[in-house]
Amino acid sequence: MMLLMAENVTKTYHLGKARIEVLRDAQLEVAEGESVAIIGASGAGKSTLLHVLGGLDRPDDGSVMVTGNDVYGMSAAKRTRLRATDIGFVFQSYHLMPEMDLLENVVLPAMALPDWLHGAGRARTRARKLLAAVGLGDRARHLPMELSGGEQQRAALARALMNEPRLVLADEPTGNLDDATGNRILDLLLSLTRGERHALVMVTHNRRVAERCDRVLQLTEGGIHPLN
Ligand SMILES: Nc1ncnc2c1ncn2[C@@H]1O[C@H](COP(=O)(O)OP(=O)(O)O)[C@@H](O)[C@H]1O
Ligand SMILES: [Mg+2]
Repeated sequence: MMLLMAENVTKTYHLGKARIEVLRDAQLEVAEGESVAIIGASGAGKSTLLHVLGGLDRPDDGSVMVTGNDVYGMSAAKRTRLRATDIGFVFQSYHLMPEMDLLENVVLPAMALPDWLHGAGRARTRARKLLAAVGLGDRARHLPMELSGGEQQRAALARALMNEPRLVLADEPTGNLDDATGNRILDLLLSLTRGERHALVMVTHNRRVAERCDRVLQLTEGGIHPLN
């Protein structure tokens, strides 16, 4: 089954009189068990594409299907629920809650789940495991501002994995990590998303990072193309 299907996705930004056509008829299909890397120049629209795929930014035209659900054909409330249960998003600029410590940040997505109160204890246990897995086991009680960029990036990754989402969308998830840490994080990301029912779409500048995914695609002129 296709876990993610984006068809004819078009997105234009308007800045005063200027039109910036960022995505034009972009197409993407990602199967269960697949990992896909998307590379492209700075400003090519990679972050915009991931936001559209993740239900965060409505396209002007086209459709996005995630786990069989029409992401922009449902109410905002249903879309919020779908994002909480099925989509893990690693933001390029982390977006951690500054007043919450790392443990609270990682637990946060679980609070959006319907059975949150029953699973609160289990959620905290899982959050601690995820923090340990990204090498931040001893930083659970630190605030984001007490961490380096790379550490915040790893905390953001742990948060994205909290609800065991079937689709993980990661925007330059190794962008601020040294090679060794980046490889370890990539191992984690690939191991958690290679399961039968899961998939990963990752945006990266780094060709070596990209080549660890099953497929490498390139975003140019608003469209997604196989890399030659
Ligand atoms: N909210 C916005 N309003 C206007 N222009 C935007 C907005 N977000 C992104 N852009 C523009 O769209 C283009 C693609 O941006 P982005 O998706 O962030 O690229 P990338 O992630 O590949 O560097 C850039 O030219 C950027 O300036
Ligand atoms: Mg970007």
